[in-house]
Amino acid sequence: MTAAQQVPDILSPEFAADPYRAYRVLRDSAPLLWHEATQSYVVSRYEDVERVFKDRNGEFTTDNYDWQVAPVHGRTILQLSGREHAVRRALVAPAFRGGDLQEKFLPVIERNSRELIDAFRHTGSADLVADYATRFPINVIVDMLGLDKADHARFHRWYTSVIAFLSNLSGDPEVTAAGKRTRVEFAEYMLPVIRERRENLGTDLLSTLCAAEVDGVKMSDDDIRAFCSLLLAAGGETTDKAIGSIFANLLVQPDQLAAVREDRSLIPRALAETLRYTPPVHMIMRQSAAEVRLSGGTVPEGVTVICLIGAANRDGDRYRDPDRFDIFRDDLTTTTAFSAAADHLAFALGRHFCVGALLAKAEVETGVSQLLDAMPGLRLDDGFDPVERGVFTRGPRSLPVRFTPVGG
Ligand code: HEM
Repeated sequence: MTAAQQVPDILSPEFAADPYRAYRVLRDSAPLLWHEATQSYVVSRYEDVERVFKDRNGEFTTDNYDWQVAPVHGRTILQLSGREHAVRRALVAPAFRGGDLQEKFLPVIERNSRELIDAFRHTGSADLVADYATRFPINVIVDMLGLDKADHARFHRWYTSVIAFLSNLSGDPEVTAAGKRTRVEFAEYMLPVIRERRENLGTDLLSTLCAAEVDGVKMSDDDIRAFCSLLLAAGGETTDKAIGSIFANLLVQPDQLAAVREDRSLIPRALAETLRYTPPVHMIMRQSAAEVRLSGGTVPEGVTVICLIGAANRDGDRYRDPDRFDIFRDDLTTTTAFSAAADHLAFALGRHFCVGALLAKAEVETGVSQLLDAMPGLRLDDGFDPVERGVFTRGPRSLPVRFTPVGG
């Protein structure tokens, strides 16, 4: 019997039901595991995942995205490297931080959150996943881009199909076909909008992307189309899961929920701990460009490596009592949790560190605060226990809650 045999397969229903148990076995007894079905090596310890993401010696590439996302998005920033990546990053990053974020997009975030809460604030009950988390980040991106929110259902369908494609580890052909259809439909929708926007620049994100120029380089219509397609998935699904999870974690720890309600400056702490404890993205892949020695063994050159963020973030060698959700823990640095100096791995690290981390933080801060204001006495529905869903991305399936309507 090898240790690997004791680990539930990452594609099994058992793993999907409770990956955290499997993560422990992986870290302890199979820290570098060959996974036959996906033809990949699986890495689960904090020090190994950190090393792969930081990639100080240029031993890993993101060529895995050529097959993982290119069929639905085309060539995006995720696939770029070296100078080409640095220039693209410089073109898009300013829109997601500093003045643009505070002045242009914070009002968009606040408005979209309020609109969703208005639909249920007088009722005393809601499902925080279906009524809020799955809608809010997508509405924000669509609104930031200056697209038509009346097309929400289409965007939602597209992003659901993109996420299904990305998560399709078992290679379901219908999911693959739907993803490829989405690429065609999205291009038909977006390219005329981009051309039109170039002629009539405004203050929205799409206009910013059309006008951005670094070292004489601008993005082509197709570069922008691909980036917008990536944004729907990268910024929608992830923040959706983060909001669901922060509430699920706080609702089952009423003392911590009460602390956050009392002192809203604790929201970034609660989010950082949520990203560690229940990260929205549980796995990120890389391709090895050299033979690499990790703590668990040697990765040969030219293979796919699956980095288990969800496992690394609960590594007992890095975090004390790692399976406990504790917004007050002192071994997670919350001041750097939304920058590339983060010491959790939920946004990855290194060159491809999430460009939307501060936007996600702003959305969660606004969303949590507005929801807490609108929902005094917030609690889970009687007898309801949150259940997580997903293997690639993961978050609560639903969160039925009750509260005392304000002035109702
Ligand atoms: C809590 C929410 C979020 C999580 C957990 C998250 C997670 C991640 C992760 C793990 C990566 C690294 C991918 C890799 O290295 O292969 C990434 C990259 C990226 N994220 Fe996020 N993300 C979040 C929110 C957002 C938002 C709101 C946006 C924008 C609207 C965004 C846009 C991007 C983009 C464009 C990249 C690619 C950066 C590059 O390749 O240089 N993300 N994100």
